[in-house]
Amino acid sequence: MLIMKTTFMLASALRQFVACPGNKCISLSTPELRFFVIDHLYNQLGEEKISRLVAAFYSQVKTDDLLGPMYPPDDWEGSEKRLRDFLIYRLGGPDTYLRERGHPRLRARHMPFQIGLAERDRWLDMMGRAMREADISPEIAPVLGAFFAQLADFMRNKEG
Ligand code: HEM
Repeated sequence: MLIMKTTFMLASALRQFVACPGNKCISLSTPELRFFVIDHLYNQLGEEKISRLVAAFYSQVKTDDLLGPMYPPDDWEGSEKRLRDFLIYRLGGPDTYLRERGHPRLRARHMPFQIGLAERDRWLDMMGRAMREADISPEIAPVLGAFFAQLADFMRNKEG
């Protein structure tokens, strides 16, 4: 199972998972389970893997004809750090992002950029490739992929 310190049991009659972090048990539907797992992925991935993932992502963004021009051209290191710190924090690691940038407010922060279906899909294609390059394990890749897909879709702010 993904989370070693947590006991998961499938209560088949209820079609729900029961997670018992410590000695308190809670029941989770499948979407909730996904987010429960997301909150703890830092323990599985570690900072090095997350850094590798974000570096592999940005090495593509830099030369991408659609998304590349949206990013500040003289601050690639800063952009990489912001996404890396965000993921580390969101996946349950240290909260450097929160301390330095405040609440993520990701949808609001993406408003200055025109994001439609093409931009969303390009972002996800590059992140998918980055996950393969960074050797994200087959157990974790679908969970992380679903998390990215949901957030990227939420970032859309124009028709089409
Ligand atoms: C859907 C397509 C997306 C596009 C076109 C896009 C584009 C951008 C751009 C142009 C920036 C500004 C670069 C900077 O100065 O940091 C940015 C920032 C950022 N993006 Fe995205 N993004 C997308 C999706 C996502 C997703 C899915 C996530 C989270 C998994 C994300 C997380 C972030 C973060 C954390 C920042 C820095 C926010 C800050 O603290 O200022 N983005 N994005």
